Amino acid sequence: MPSLLEQASKVLHNNWKEAFTIPCEGLYPFQWNWDSGFIAIGWAHIDMERAKSEIRSLLKGQWKNGFLPHIVFHNESKTYYPGPEVHAAHLSDQSPDVRTSGITQPPVLGFVLEELYRISEDKEDILSFIDSVYDAVYQNHHYFYTNRDPQNEGLVYICHNWEAGTDNTPVWDFIWSTFEVPDYELDRKDTKLIDASHRPTNKEYQYYIHLIELFKQWKYDDAKIAEGSPFLVQDPLFNSMLIKANESLIALGKLLRKNNKVAQLEQWQEQALQAMNSKLFDENLQGYVYYDLRNERKLSHLSSSSFTPLMAGIPSEERAETMIEHLHRGSFSGENDENFLCASFDPSSEFFNSKKYWRGPVWINLNWIIYRGLKRYGYEELSEKIKEHTIHFMETYGFYEYFEPSKELNKTLDKGYGGNNFSWSAALTIDLLTNKL
Ligand code: DGY
Repeated sequence: MPSLLEQASKVLHNNWKEAFTIPCEGLYPFQWNWDSGFIAIGWAHIDMERAKSEIRSLLKGQWKNGFLPHIVFHNESKTYYPGPEVHAAHLSDQSPDVRTSGITQPPVLGFVLEELYRISEDKEDILSFIDSVYDAVYQNHHYFYTNRDPQNEGLVYICHNWEAGTDNTPVWDFIWSTFEVPDYELDRKDTKLIDASHRPTNKEYQYYIHLIELFKQWKYDDAKIAEGSPFLVQDPLFNSMLIKANESLIALGKLLRKNNKVAQLEQWQEQALQAMNSKLFDENLQGYVYYDLRNERKLSHLSSSSFTPLMAGIPSEERAETMIEHLHRGSFSGENDENFLCASFDPSSEFFNSKKYWRGPVWINLNWIIYRGLKRYGYEELSEKIKEHTIHFMETYGFYEYFEPSKELNKTLDKGYGGNNFSWSAALTIDLLTNKL
């Protein structure tokens, strides 16, 4: 029987397509943005050249204004909807020659570069690679702070649920209820490939497609999107990833003597940290939440995203302590520890659904982010618990896309949920098993 590490490595090798890695055969057959970031961390432990290639391939999809799309369609595939013709990114005068989508995903590349630096045994070689891509990643941050922060607050917005990464979190229900959508003809493939009850509904997809149709009408012009998009949200996960990536770009920029860029990043960072703590923290819930910029209101719900500011060092020590109560004999763990960590949505909420995509199941990349955050704040025991739960899922069921949080229900299951042989589940398992923190 191959070791877990060997099995994880096999998943990455099988999903490798010449210069990049697909997230999952059939279900996600192209290159995805934040998937590639996590995947590069996995590759870095077993084949650094592939980690570099993963990042270079993703950056081939970068737009002239620094924007980095959520999908790069390097290859052909008929197993995914919506494909390149639906996204029609060529409508923007900023788009590149390669086909891409016109929406983005959480910006992880900055801290992925720092992970590669830490993992590599050849610091000179990896630093020269980082030097070759640094400006492109910096331009992506520049894009966010100049185009996605209309009130100049230090927080950037997302304009589509797919930009969040947490595609169908119940938080979006409260956005969908603010506008109507036409009945689009959908050509969904996902529900034919895996159990449809684990995926978003058709009604939700109508909203997803409607937003893309609006952006196409506006030729993906950011000013028009900021003015008209019914979905305009400051998301705690997205902003935490950007802040963590700022921090990494500052550290790497100092090594590379990029003084002007470091000074600009430090300026963005100061404002961003302050804004996260003043605007996105909910005192009643004791956690970071979403802000609906279009309707000027907090969307006060706890999700796994609420804990991601820990990885970026955003909360004070006191705040961190009260936040993690939710993970420790709180609503996420269950009072008697009846749940595996960490459900993607508050298990005590009426909107929680333990099987459905981002409405409850455990996701490995969020576990990895929370694990890193707990380590940063010195919560050794709890971080080890999250790691143990994560490895338990992989060993028991394999490298699925997401998992059932209830320990009781797990006894009745013989697999995870969503796609199998999922790349970031494998990549981050490699990191958890190998990385000495
Ligand atoms: C999907 O198709 O579910 C993806 O998450 C969108 O990027």
